[in-house]
Amino acid sequence: MEIVMSRTTLDITLLSGHIGAEIHGLDLAALDDSSFALLKQAFLEHQVLILRDQQLTRDQHIALGRRFGDLHVHPMAKGPEGYPEIFPIEAGKNSSNDPKAIRGGKRAVNGGNWHSDVSCDEEPPLGSILYLRDVPPAGGDTLFASGYAAFEALSPALQSFLEGLTAVHSGEATYRLHYGNQAAQDRSRFGFRSDQPYPEAVHPVVRTHPETGRKSLFVNRGFTREIVELSHTESQALLEYLYRHQETPEFSVRLHWQPDSIALWDNRCTQHRAIFDYAGQVRRGERVTIKGDRPYLRRENDREPQWGLVG
Ligand SMILES: [Fe+2]
Repeated sequence: MEIVMSRTTLDITLLSGHIGAEIHGLDLAALDDSSFALLKQAFLEHQVLILRDQQLTRDQHIALGRRFGDLHVHPMAKGPEGYPEIFPIEAGKNSSNDPKAIRGGKRAVNGGNWHSDVSCDEEPPLGSILYLRDVPPAGGDTLFASGYAAFEALSPALQSFLEGLTAVHSGEATYRLHYGNQAAQDRSRFGFRSDQPYPEAVHPVVRTHPETGRKSLFVNRGFTREIVELSHTESQALLEYLYRHQETPEFSVRLHWQPDSIALWDNRCTQHRAIFDYAGQVRRGERVTIKGDRPYLRRENDREPQWGLVG
């Protein structure tokens, strides 16, 4: 298919039935306002986008993020000197995704379990822009799952039940393992913010996307600890069911990276997992993360439709 890109159209290839698109022929270092508007529209519709062969400086990467909104500074990990908004992603010969090996001194890979980025924040990020410069010769893909598709596939009875629930999201388990260990090994490069408590927040189990108005499941293995309104055993069983449901292949897409690929994902309606199948190889890049707002199912001033009260 011929690549066509103008200020009124984007050349888009859909990557699965519910989530993911590749955008062709767009230079993210040189976006005008109309091109950005189209990119944002595609971002909202397809939830995760990937673009190939991009050449951005660190400042251009940050500028791209700022087009979406103010930038998020990670609560636990410091960026490189002078760039607090940059979240470095780096796996090398000493990396592992096994907690026991990490406790024994291996370096934890980023995002090796299903999660929505920093969902333990009171205001979790709107989205992330990951720029990978070095990728392994094979492997290192990222899975993304659509919270919209997962929610919409549930029965109305379960949807309704879930809409009455909230869940605790905690950063402690993930961050103690990842950055507590990394601090000892790697303090000189990307230090551990030991001045910060582990973040924790309560969010609705079903959230309404503030821009699309669609409802999405919003629990994930990485950060969600328990459902507030249920007993411990009920909570564990329901969460495990919801995790497995969300991870159904039909609701997901698998992104394959090449050197200089950039992926942008909407963190409000997706979760993802970086596949660690490249032990001994290098996978390296940087992420810019955009600030989000507090998840809600219904806003205080929103009103349910008042059927039957007219006249
Ligand atoms: Fe992530």
